[in-house]
Amino acid sequence: MLDKITILGGRNKSGRREKISRLEIAAGDVLAVVGPTGSGKTQLISDIEQYDEEETLTGRSVLIGNQLADRNKNKKSRRYLVAQVSQNMNFVIDMSVEEFLLMHARVRGIEDPNPIIEEVLAITNHLSGEPVAFSTNLTQLSGGQSRALMVADVAIISNAPVVLIDEIENAGIDRLQALEILRGQGKIVLVVSHDPTLMLMAGKRVIMKNGGMEKICPTTAKEKRILADLVKVEKRVADLREQLRRGDSIGHGDSSVVNREREVGLYGQGVSALASEYQQGD
Ligand SMILES: Nc1ncnc2c1ncn2[C@@H]1O[C@H](COP(=O)(O)OP(=O)(O)OP(=O)(O)O)[C@@H](O)[C@H]1O
Ligand SMILES: [Mg+2]
Repeated sequence: MLDKITILGGRNKSGRREKISRLEIAAGDVLAVVGPTGSGKTQLISDIEQYDEEETLTGRSVLIGNQLADRNKNKKSRRYLVAQVSQNMNFVIDMSVEEFLLMHARVRGIEDPNPIIEEVLAITNHLSGEPVAFSTNLTQLSGGQSRALMVADVAIISNAPVVLIDEIENAGIDRLQALEILRGQGKIVLVVSHDPTLMLMAGKRVIMKNGGMEKICPTTAKEKRILADLVKVEKRVADLREQLRRGDSIGHGDSSVVNREREVGLYGQGVSALASEYQQGD
């Protein structure tokens, strides 16, 4: 079991040494990668994915446990270190979900695959909306369903200890749950995100600027409390989304909706704008 990876700093876009020269991420930890558009978040993730390349664009290197990646090891075993759930994930293989999962389980040497693939399907359906069946063809899956399947597959079948996630906010899956599931499996998780809830779910975040790792911010106790409130707001928004998606009409004579939004209060603008709309609508 891999207990940590370490990123050793390289150069930013101007060719200067980046401020953070060493960044460790332990098993069961989530690191959020944050920063403005173009600041190098995806680049950092790809540096980790290509940890065994001779020379990366940024000059960073990655320690696996305590050592530099062994470049002489065969390529296949190295590939199993990192699993990626990416922004645009769509399957082009013409096979059923069941065939795909059985094949993957076989490749990973799982002896009795049936209970395992059942679990993968259950998690997939827990994360996504419309249910996926074993008989569903991979090419028929929506973007969100594909990502849900990938997260479940990475959590349960893939034994890759490092999981890289680039932007799951619009993935149409329950991203907070997805992160919890991966973290719960003792994986080293890096998640690129522009979303404050995801940033605060991580134990720490690295701030990217001009292609360099600029600063590391551990999530403070105060931020964790803010996170708890954000999660409540999200839960409420998710409930509303669910009702609207079902075709329900919301807010009619249901003052509890307004009151509950008020209780949550703190994050206010979005939510209180929502609440005042309800009131106007009443
Ligand atoms: N240290 C670096 N040295 C040289 N080029 C870099 C460096 N970091 C990033 N780049 C390049 O800058 C461009 C933008 O970086 P990247 O795609 O990682 O941004 P991003 O933060 O993911 O942006 P977005 O939020 O829009 O996805 C890419 O072409 C990338 O290869
Ligand atoms: Mg990016």
